[in-house]
Amino acid sequence: MRDDIVTYIDAWHAAGVTDAVGDGPANWFALVDQRRATLKSADAKPAAPPAELRWAPASVSPVVRPAVAPTAASAQAHATAAAAQSLDDLLRQIEAFEGCGLKATAKSLCFYRGAPKARLMLIGEAPGRDEDIAGKPFVGRAGQLLDKMLAAIGIDESKVHITNTVYWRPPGNRTPTPEETQACAPFVTRQIELVEPDVIVLLGGVAAKSVLGLTEGILKLRGKWRALSVAGREVRSLATLHPAYLLRTPAAKRQVWQDLQLIAAALAT
Ligand code: URA
Repeated sequence: MRDDIVTYIDAWHAAGVTDAVGDGPANWFALVDQRRATLKSADAKPAAPPAELRWAPASVSPVVRPAVAPTAASAQAHATAAAAQSLDDLLRQIEAFEGCGLKATAKSLCFYRGAPKARLMLIGEAPGRDEDIAGKPFVGRAGQLLDKMLAAIGIDESKVHITNTVYWRPPGNRTPTPEETQACAPFVTRQIELVEPDVIVLLGGVAAKSVLGLTEGILKLRGKWRALSVAGREVRSLATLHPAYLLRTPAAKRQVWQDLQLIAAALAT
């Protein structure tokens, strides 16, 4: 009996099924096709998502970001970021910015990957080694997993704008310090204003804490819609687990799959 079970699991594993993401069977191919069709056709009326996945503004908690005392670096970033009229302008301002110490040790500035304007914007933690070499966010193993996660809901690079809380790789891939994220935050805020997303997804605790100004751990923060006010516009934001965490903890893919369904449903409305 035990041998049968092992053979059965091995067969699934060989077919590429490596993790359990739910209790019941699901037709993933049908879901992907449905999302693709919805995103392709501007006229298509998407099927209403199940009630528990619907975006209900009344039940969404607005984010009240605590006032953070500006540092000299963040005040300078704020002044220059506010003047940027386009992403190209903003890139030039970030290139000229000397208020984030990470710039001194990084090889490249990693600004964004994907579309300049997008309904979906993802904000991760910080560039790693692969990103520093390529000069783009999320191109290493975590980025490849992220692309697969997005593909599962019918999203490719042409429909998403991907960036980080800081634009330079922290030495040795350490976590960026609150001072480093705070120094870059005015640029990230201006980037959000210029991209004009409808939905912002915060990948991991550092992004969730930096952008939302909340202090709880990511396992508590994830999976809930929060209304973020950006330049007078209300943007839906959702924190989820970081793909690098999923590489270390594949069982957590189940929670992220739930979050991806929330994101897909929000984009369909
Ligand atoms: N992890 C991140 O948070 N961002 C990247 O760009 C790459 C890995």
